Amino acid sequence: MNDHSPLRSAWTDSLVRGQRPDAAALRAHLRAVHRDHAGFTETCARACCDAAGRTSYDWLAEAVPETDGARVLDLACGSGPLLDILHHRNAGLRLTGLDMCPEELALAQARLPAGSADLMQAEAQDMERISDGSLDAVLCHWALTLMDPVTPVLDEVRRVLAPGGRFVALVDGPMEAAPGYTAVHDLIYGYVQSELPGYGEIDLGDPRIRGTDSLSDLVRAAFPAATVTVETSVVTMEGAATDVAEAAAGFFYAAFILSPASREKMLTELAGLLSTSGPGGSAVPQGSFAMPINRLLVTT
Ligand SMILES: C[S@@+](CC[C@H](N)C(=O)[O-])C[C@H]1O[C@@H](n2cnc3c(N)ncnc32)[C@H](O)[C@@H]1O
Repeated sequence: MNDHSPLRSAWTDSLVRGQRPDAAALRAHLRAVHRDHAGFTETCARACCDAAGRTSYDWLAEAVPETDGARVLDLACGSGPLLDILHHRNAGLRLTGLDMCPEELALAQARLPAGSADLMQAEAQDMERISDGSLDAVLCHWALTLMDPVTPVLDEVRRVLAPGGRFVALVDGPMEAAPGYTAVHDLIYGYVQSELPGYGEIDLGDPRIRGTDSLSDLVRAAFPAATVTVETSVVTMEGAATDVAEAAAGFFYAAFILSPASREKMLTELAGLLSTSGPGGSAVPQGSFAMPINRLLVTT
């Protein structure tokens, strides 16, 4: 289903009541978004590249050991784009994908060559099916931001990594790093808050993951003996302004709660904001969207 009917869940109901949603409500909300819009993350993320032409998936994949037989987990693998890239780079990797949403895992299963990865439905806070010290790398693309509680996730990652193993995560970067990003964020959240006033003050996941310093502090506490770095970059997407607006808005979970009429109005305004065509420019107005990203690298 991709009709963009407005999403309501136990999480949005808590906001309406003025209460802080609990972990079960967060899970229910994420499950509902991914049930109805499975694969939406890669639509935007695969269209956005950095100055060197790499997607954020490529940037994460670069941190994976080259050695044949290296054991790699894609934590919250979604529809499997990163597993796909990793397998086609080195078919000798031993890949596992874990996600809590069956609809996302079904897409991953369908796209990956048979036998290229083990897929499992589980929550990141409890990876009991993965043995202690059994992995050389854990990757996590655009998902750590959504996890609350997040400390048990970091504890689980530390448990499953072998000595010398790496944890590499792609998360939101500082808004000011990408030109125009704050305006896009504020436009979308303005529409969302007119329907659900508490959205934004309370957001999905643990807010510490969204700040470069708070992320470093949190991860250093969970991996006291590791080397921890956070690098910032920017990825951009270009194309017809209406397509860029649709893909960019699709990246904001908040936009899924909008009514169809409000969503359409927001998209029209967003296409105008992202437009790069001057007066008398091309027949189809062109647009551009820039997104800030952080890559967390933990070497144990
Ligand atoms: C934004 S999508 C990213 C998917 C994929 N990594 C990508 O970038 O294309 C977030 C994914 O995290 C998964 N997820 C969120 N919280 C999770 C948790 N606590 N345990 C397992 N999966 C989780 C969702 O089911 C969803 O597939």
